[in-house]
Amino acid sequence: MQKPTTIAVAGATGRVGRHVVQVLQERGHRVVPMSRSAGVDVVTGDGLREALEGVDVVIDVSSTPSPDQQTATEFFTAAAHHLHEAGQKAGVRRMVVVSIIGIDGSVAGYNAAKLAHERAALAGPIPTRILRAAQFHEFVEELVAWGTQGDVAYVPKMQTQLVAARAVAEKLVDVATARDPFVVTLPHPEIAGPRAETLAEAARLLAARRGFPSLVEEASDAANPDRELFESGGLLPGPHATLAGPAYAEWLDQTAR
Ligand SMILES: NC(=O)c1ccc[n+]([C@@H]2O[C@H](COP(=O)([O-])OP(=O)(O)OC[C@H]3O[C@@H](n4cnc5c(N)ncnc54)[C@H](OP(=O)(O)O)[C@@H]3O)[C@@H](O)[C@H]2O)c1
Repeated sequence: MQKPTTIAVAGATGRVGRHVVQVLQERGHRVVPMSRSAGVDVVTGDGLREALEGVDVVIDVSSTPSPDQQTATEFFTAAAHHLHEAGQKAGVRRMVVVSIIGIDGSVAGYNAAKLAHERAALAGPIPTRILRAAQFHEFVEELVAWGTQGDVAYVPKMQTQLVAARAVAEKLVDVATARDPFVVTLPHPEIAGPRAETLAEAARLLAARRGFPSLVEEASDAANPDRELFESGGLLPGPHATLAGPAYAEWLDQTAR
């Protein structure tokens, strides 16, 4: 496609959204940042019509903080509906949505909601592509905080190939501005970091840098029907994935500087 002049970013202030905005600006695109703090709500549709005027492409990296399956499903399906509806009226030509690697077998929680998100986003009418990403480096801190009780952090037993949000943002912008016919490609393209590790290993690196919590324990949640997927490497990238550094340890060094 021609170099798009205007790209709207839903979730522009988030962990990955702020990098998407930065990458787009560095590459010379005009950016329309969308988030509730910017007066645009993708769940209610408030402010969308005005924001999408003159927009060629939408990159959707919005999210709810809720891990609850129903709450997250309602968020993502409403967002997809409103972005397509308002986007079509505004003449948006393509949409790119970020999702999560390895969720095909998910039946519970946030990951199952992302499957519903993918389906709603691909239903159109605007031609849409999904980019699936591994867990972000930036997300480890939140997972540790969620599981911390006193001096101990209990983190889910999980194999992951953590990736920097900046690398995900670069790939999203590549997909959004690619000079190709923009048909859906299966399997969905994936982006992950350079090496597999456990979430607990990453959490221990973080805790060592911060000096807190003093102990990180792996917790296997018997009540989670997706447990086997998490623990057996089901969230690791496939052979066709783009792998991009830095690895988590190097990223921690860089962000500490
Ligand atoms: N975190 C990970 O490790 C990871 C891994 C793979 C894929 N992903 C996917 O990447 C996407 C972004 O994740 P993230 O961790 O960057 O999210 P995040 O940091 O929680 O950011 C969420 C963004 O969405 C905006 N937002 C929330 N509710 C909104 C609403 N009703 N209307 C408009 N904007 C709204 C927030 O801004 P306001 O609060 O100002 O509205 C914020 O800009 C999600 O789709 C997630 O599934 C995440």
